[in-house]
Amino acid sequence: MSRRNKIYEGKAKVLFEGPEPGTIIQYFKDDATAFNAEKKGTLAGKGVVNNHISEYIFTALADIGVPTHFIERTSMREQLVKAVEIIPVEVIVRNIAAGGISKRLGIDEGTPLPRPIVEFCYKSDELGDPLIAEEHVLAFGWADEIELEEMTHYALRINDFLSGLFAGIGIKLVDFKLEFGRLYEGEDCITILADEISPDGCRLWDMKTGEKLDKDRFRRDLGGEMEAYQEVARRLGILPNADITEIADHQNKGQKQ
Ligand code: CDP
Repeated sequence: MSRRNKIYEGKAKVLFEGPEPGTIIQYFKDDATAFNAEKKGTLAGKGVVNNHISEYIFTALADIGVPTHFIERTSMREQLVKAVEIIPVEVIVRNIAAGGISKRLGIDEGTPLPRPIVEFCYKSDELGDPLIAEEHVLAFGWADEIELEEMTHYALRINDFLSGLFAGIGIKLVDFKLEFGRLYEGEDCITILADEISPDGCRLWDMKTGEKLDKDRFRRDLGGEMEAYQEVARRLGILPNADITEIADHQNKGQKQ
């Protein structure tokens, strides 16, 4: 691990050079941050669970024809992905009001939205990922019209698919965040899904109890974060018997060597 070239270290992941040109290793850390990294913590085993959940979802999305950067999971905390140029726009899809939209527009959390809403935020830690309009994206050249159309199209397709997937395991998909990248292939440049999809970037509520099974447990000091993330994994049929804490210890030592 230490011999590999680190390309970038983010809040929840580290990116290393991959074994082939055009590939990257995504390493999932246990670090948790919220409110633009004002709140920091460690959730033992989160990286392992998110790596597996993201693998599961990206594989399923590829099966329904959504192009993604995912190639294969290579270890408990790592996955091999295609190197892309990240489009600096976060795409948020909302089905039920919560978080930002509730605060901004005064809509009670839990209110179903009349239809799924796609929002864009400018990816900037310094600015706290501000909400922007399509006009900003185009005027500042963060993405072009075709990319905007593709991101919106894929976001809604992913929302349809994931809403059904989670409904099938008794979970409401309240909202989630996506990131896309540009993949250059010769003359062509295609828009593909990148980053991760995990309880870190989704709001997931148990259908019966309303219990939060996502990062809001950390943001709002509710506790039980890992139990919630593991419950999502368990319902998806992932890591059914794993002792995440043990795995977390072992692998974390590996990364720090
Ligand atoms: O509640 P918060 O201020 O984090 O933002 P939001 O706009 O309500 O977030 C909508 C959804 O996108 C939630 O599921 C967040 O977890 C996710 N999100 C994210 O993963 N990363 C961000 N930088 C912003 C939102």
